[in-house]
Amino acid sequence: MIRFYKPAHVVMGLFASLAVLNAQNPAAANAPPPPGQAAKPVAPPARRGGLGAGGDYQQYSQETLDDGKRIYTANCAFCHGGNAKGGESGPDLLRSTIVLHDEDGKQIGAFIHVGRPDKGMPKFNLPEDQVTELAAFLHDSVRAAAQRNTYKILDIVVGDPKQGEIYFNAHCASCHSATGDLAHIGSKFDPVTIQQKIVMPREFGRGAGPAANKTAMTVTVTQPSGEVTEGRLVHIDDFSVSLATADGKVKKFERNGDVPKVEVHDPLQPHLDLLPQYTDADIHNLTAYLVTLK
Ligand code: HEC
Ligand code: HEC
Repeated sequence: MIRFYKPAHVVMGLFASLAVLNAQNPAAANAPPPPGQAAKPVAPPARRGGLGAGGDYQQYSQETLDDGKRIYTANCAFCHGGNAKGGESGPDLLRSTIVLHDEDGKQIGAFIHVGRPDKGMPKFNLPEDQVTELAAFLHDSVRAAAQRNTYKILDIVVGDPKQGEIYFNAHCASCHSATGDLAHIGSKFDPVTIQQKIVMPREFGRGAGPAANKTAMTVTVTQPSGEVTEGRLVHIDDFSVSLATADGKVKKFERNGDVPKVEVHDPLQPHLDLLPQYTDADIHNLTAYLVTLK
């Protein structure tokens, strides 16, 4: 993930802005909630937030959503972006497992009351009713994003398979083959899945998941003595890096600035680098082409 490579001055800048944020923001860590607000009644939610058991989304009143948005904008947008899809320093919250598994603010509240201060996520002392409204806003944003994607995905069959094949040969054939690894992909998966695989191979690719063999990140650690250790990346932050060597042993190295030298390799990087280059038409054409590989 990009934040691993963040140069020290950016991280320092983050801490500096954090200090400012805490000073300006009464809801941030250690400040009491503004008087009067804690008592404001919130309509009891009909069922769990986010996706209900039947796959349906909960409806919230416009007032709850407006309040939630205001709380979000004042406290979170600075880092997680105006629409919660990720910003300068915070990840996309609409894909966060904490948000997706949240029930009426319980998990979100538990998380933000502690935060991850060592990773740049401050703790917040928001009263329970504000957390509930904030959670409602996030769940509704997840719903809206999912419905936009569904709408987009319905369009994919309008793609031109011929154009898709040309694009594939130019940009994908260095790693994939229509008669090799991607043969029969059109009979194995529906168009929606195929499109998800193109756009998010780590989440939806073969043997998906960060630990999967073909998509796992690897790391090379080089000591000042020249000693080199390589393996699958297990954990990395500013202070240490852990890797699993070929024989399955996990080794941890303390980091002090650039010592030892740490190089992370992501086999999907070239694939991910293509993402900002695709137009909607490219994606539609590619999907339409892969669907024909029966
Ligand atoms: C100063 C920047 C900053 C602010 C302000 C901030 N966050 Fe974060 N947040 C982060 C960072 C950085 C992370 C990633 C931490 C990590 O690497 O584990 C994070 C992570 C999270 C996560 C976990 C994502 C996941 O699934 O791993 C949630 C949920 C979250 N923030 C919610 C919020 C909410 C809600 C607010 C407002 C009340 C907020 N954040 C305000 C910086 C911020
Ligand atoms: C630099 C190499 C590289 C390039 C270029 C590349 N990919 Fe990938 N792709 C991968 C790797 C690695 C994976 C993950 C392992 C896997 O699932 O095969 C992957 C996974 C996939 C998958 C999921 C396969 C499955 O069966 O689940 C699809 C579909 C895919 N890529 C399509 C494309 C398309 C379309 C392009 C061109 C626009 C492209 N890739 C460009 C390396 C690449």
